[in-house]
Amino acid sequence: MVPVTCPTTPFDGQKPGTSGLRKAVKVFEQPRYLENFVQSIFDCVDGLSGATLVIGGDGRYHNRTAVQTILRMAAANGVARAVVGRGGILSTPAASCVIRKRGAIGGVILSASHNPGGPDGDFGIKFNAANGGPAPESMTDAFFARSKAIAEFKTLESPDLDLDRLGGTALGGMAVEVIDPVADYAELMESLFDMAAIRKLFASGFRMVFDAMHAVTGPYATEILERRLGAPAGTVINGTPLEDFGGHHPDPNLAHAEELVERLFGPDAPDFGAASDGDGDRNMILGRNVFVSPSDSLAVLAANATHVPAFKGGLAGVARSMPTSRAVDRVAAKLGISCYETPTGWKFFGTLLDAGRINLCGEESFGTGADHVREKDGLWAVLMWLNVLAARGLSVAELMAEHWGTYGRTYYGRHDYEAIPQEAADALIAELRGKLPSLAGTALGGRTVAAADEFAYTDPVDGSRSERQGLRVGFEDGSRIVYRLSGTGTSGATLRVYFERYEPVGGEHGLDAPVALKPLADLAAELAGIERHTGRTKPDVAT
Ligand code: G6P
Ligand code: ZN
Repeated sequence: MVPVTCPTTPFDGQKPGTSGLRKAVKVFEQPRYLENFVQSIFDCVDGLSGATLVIGGDGRYHNRTAVQTILRMAAANGVARAVVGRGGILSTPAASCVIRKRGAIGGVILSASHNPGGPDGDFGIKFNAANGGPAPESMTDAFFARSKAIAEFKTLESPDLDLDRLGGTALGGMAVEVIDPVADYAELMESLFDMAAIRKLFASGFRMVFDAMHAVTGPYATEILERRLGAPAGTVINGTPLEDFGGHHPDPNLAHAEELVERLFGPDAPDFGAASDGDGDRNMILGRNVFVSPSDSLAVLAANATHVPAFKGGLAGVARSMPTSRAVDRVAAKLGISCYETPTGWKFFGTLLDAGRINLCGEESFGTGADHVREKDGLWAVLMWLNVLAARGLSVAELMAEHWGTYGRTYYGRHDYEAIPQEAADALIAELRGKLPSLAGTALGGRTVAAADEFAYTDPVDGSRSERQGLRVGFEDGSRIVYRLSGTGTSGATLRVYFERYEPVGGEHGLDAPVALKPLADLAAELAGIERHTGRTKPDVAT
């Protein structure tokens, strides 16, 4: 096993986005492409030599090949110990858990999250730091800068390791431990929730469907829900992870989790439904005939947190990404705790969690999480809901009605315009940016603009500054429109338009969200000139 140094030349565009470097599999399959990026990471991580590194991914096509490549490079770069999930598998939250539990310097996570997989799908790689969370921008900027100057990478000439057998082995001078990808995570979940109360709920006949979408959470959900909590066999559907997710889009939302939505809105619907995405960090929550928007889910969990053992002492504070609705702000105000508004991207919650300023946070993009790891966590959110439902003895619909009756209802929706030419998207944003300063006080579509600005963020813990994080137009009646370009797309630009409409206590709480939001959606399209700039008359995805 000879360490070798291979000459290379830089690839363009190895700039990590909202959540790591995400590209088509075909791009990653180019010789040296993955190697360049991995070496760029390794060159920037202080203390890598002699440290423990966690490696795992969501099992999508190219995962196994990439894990073998990274193991060889880790050994050649002096890593002392690699901890790998069996079969190269670790869900994103489980990777975060393992990094923290085993005192690793960080982890390399292979995933393109909810993007489709397979030879024609997407692949991705990101580095999580020692706290278990996505590398902060200062680090990802350094990786990118390095990728532009890279001239060589280090690897070993060695055969593939057997990653399907648990236990220890060696690769060059590096120890390799293949671990059960579920064990550490399941143990952590048991320490956070009232497992006995949830077990009792299932024993009383409560019925649930969890859609793993043929992605990584299948084995996690089967172990925790069916084996440890006694949910009936068959509670987990699409539970076998497949390299191409069965040809589906492993994104838990109303558009992509069709089978689950049909069950929850069909005859003889179960009490509770949930789904997770490709790498297990997202969640969607449904009740019988009810969809819980992620923004509402965060608010409801905040309001009921003390029913869960992990939070019985109360919450320190909460946070949401800027486009997430302000439903949780109203809960925080009532509880008298801080509520932070951060840019999109889980990494922005990291400093707040590490500093103990918050212990619950979430995003409109179906992400919810807490301080137990430094990633959003799909199955954790499902268990949190189960714990709250068990403790409160209410159905999802009853809990939502109670919540809206206390805090008012915030209708929420998002329109995505995908794969639009980058120049068209940039022109739309630039034009709207120019309009913002003159909007306050004007009437638009029967509503008066209270404030309009471009969101920028100064991290209150480390002082780092993030500019240009989305355009927002707030109205006097509490409604709001937000525009931003996605940081996770892999072709062209994706324009996201977010709407919220607030109905106070005693207001109209029984409307269908798309109906309630139609006037705002029309106004948003008009105000930004979406058709004029993009030629699109309707969004590709409306959630
Ligand atoms: C990933 C990130 C989230 C983010 C979401 C959407 O899931 O982890 O933090 O909210 O992508 O990001 P985008 O930039 O595509 O709106
Ligand atoms: Zn994900």
